[in-house]
Amino acid sequence: MSDDLKQTFFDEIASIKGLADAINLRVKYLGKKGIITARIKSLSSLPPDERRLAGRQINELKEFIEKACDEKEAFLRSADLKSRLLAEAIDITLPGKHFGFGHEHPLSRTLREVIDIFTRMGFSIEEGPEVELDCYNFEALNIPKDHPARDMQDTFYVSEDIVLRTHTSPVQVRVMEKKRPPLRFIAPGKVYRCDADVTHSPMFHQVEGVMVDRDITFSHLKGVLTAFIHQMFGPHIPVRFRPSFFPFTEPSAEIDMGCILCKSAGCRVCKGTGWLEILGAGMVNPKVFENVGYDAEEYTGFAFGMGIERITLLKYSIDDIRLLFENDMRFLRQF
Ligand code: DAH
Repeated sequence: MSDDLKQTFFDEIASIKGLADAINLRVKYLGKKGIITARIKSLSSLPPDERRLAGRQINELKEFIEKACDEKEAFLRSADLKSRLLAEAIDITLPGKHFGFGHEHPLSRTLREVIDIFTRMGFSIEEGPEVELDCYNFEALNIPKDHPARDMQDTFYVSEDIVLRTHTSPVQVRVMEKKRPPLRFIAPGKVYRCDADVTHSPMFHQVEGVMVDRDITFSHLKGVLTAFIHQMFGPHIPVRFRPSFFPFTEPSAEIDMGCILCKSAGCRVCKGTGWLEILGAGMVNPKVFENVGYDAEEYTGFAFGMGIERITLLKYSIDDIRLLFENDMRFLRQF
């Protein structure tokens, strides 16, 4: 009887595949309602002389089954672990996943460099709206109604007296209207002109600068802007100031630096002159001071404006402004 049971158990345990089956088998034989448990319980119904032998046999069988179940489960557990370790193995010789690092756009970089240089010289940063009133963009800056910059071909008109600002100069007026001298600020931002070719974009960036106080002279203008150019392009770059005209400055100047591409020898970019124009500037026109309620007898100041795209094109020898806005990674990765 017990031998039959032992054989059945043997057959069953031999056919087991997984751990769950092994646990079920243990319950089937040794659980509360298991076959062995039932046998042990039924011992009490046997006559006392048969009971001893039967009891010993069933206990031996119980121990045997327990041991067999322990071994089977241990074996299955370690087989399971082995197969999981194999399946989840990491091949440390494979190349890792590559996360590309981004970097600043060349325009943002130039803008940041310009801002850094002026903030180091004590200039603060001001901002103004890109959709601007005609009176700030033109009138208060002493740009009369018939000025060519107002032409429909250059200015984007939103309505008769609202424009997309064509330069950052209106920020001069907005700030001076609100604050009293001494003033020393730059105003970076986007500007808009209806113009598009290899050197012009309908949207581009300018940085305006203003310094106003008692006794500010043209030599302050020269000193600050020469220091800027030397920090931006190198300490040995020659700089020259050429007389020019802007309605909002008097006198006005255009500032050139020695061509960085040909080292002033003359090339295609500097059109053979050895010089590159990079800034407009001048002493703030007393008419502008009057428009913002400053006493032009008491205060003087200088202002300047520069194009960030132009500086970027020159600095990195880029020959088409559109490359800066197309976001072609093959181009941007080079910086
Ligand atoms: N607003 C001028 C422009 O867009 C640049 C400029 C020239 C700004 C001279 C100034 C300045 O503040 O003094 O062409």
